Amino acid sequence: MKQDLIAPSILSADFAKLGEDVEAVIASGADMVHFDVMDNHYVPNLTIGPMVCQALRSHGIQAPIDVHLMVKPVDRIIPDFANAGATYISFHPEASAHVDRTLQLIRDNGCQPGLVFNPATPLDSLRYAIHNVDMILLMSVNPGFAGQKFISTTLEKLMQVRAMIDESGLEIRLEIDGGVNLENIGAIAQAGADTFVAGSAVFGAGNDSDPNRYDSVIGQLRTAIAQAR
Ligand code: DX5
Ligand code: ZN
Repeated sequence: MKQDLIAPSILSADFAKLGEDVEAVIASGADMVHFDVMDNHYVPNLTIGPMVCQALRSHGIQAPIDVHLMVKPVDRIIPDFANAGATYISFHPEASAHVDRTLQLIRDNGCQPGLVFNPATPLDSLRYAIHNVDMILLMSVNPGFAGQKFISTTLEKLMQVRAMIDESGLEIRLEIDGGVNLENIGAIAQAGADTFVAGSAVFGAGNDSDPNRYDSVIGQLRTAIAQAR
């Protein structure tokens, strides 16, 4: 299994001072920046695009940027995110007419491709695509908003995908996204995730005036994962 990564979702960061907020979570031990892209079409919300990704790179953020595309169609925007400094680019298979082509497009643009499955979406497209993904992302909420409740049937799905990855012998990250917090992250780790997105649990932790609030919550998340191992 790959090394555990904590990826705060900047959807819950302070957009008025995004660069500083991202710098602060990385300085506090976060491994990766989870970057939620919503188009008010595939999901009923509208967020950020390649310009903001580029702005984070220009600001000096060097951590991997994990772009989660909740957009339809997908392909047009991929080169823009690659040029803007994305590391991973994940998309929902039902948002692409040609899943294999989109995966290849991400790779051809120098990024690492991922497939995302909503809570009720079956894993069918993995059957022929697993050899071409670097990440599998399971949604544990319906995509579109931060701060929703973790859908517990995702634990069973995590175990299923963990078994598929182990059986494949491939180096594929297994990421969980939605409603992850201090109470459930241990069970999520036990079910097989190695990459943990947390939006409100990280950026909403503690008191704004406490300079150590991110250190504290990221430390606690990491401890809870370690205890589950
Ligand atoms: C939901 C997004 C998530 C979300 C996670 O569509 O993909 O990344 O921001 O936020 P929390 O951790 O608050 O559920
Ligand atoms: Zn996300």
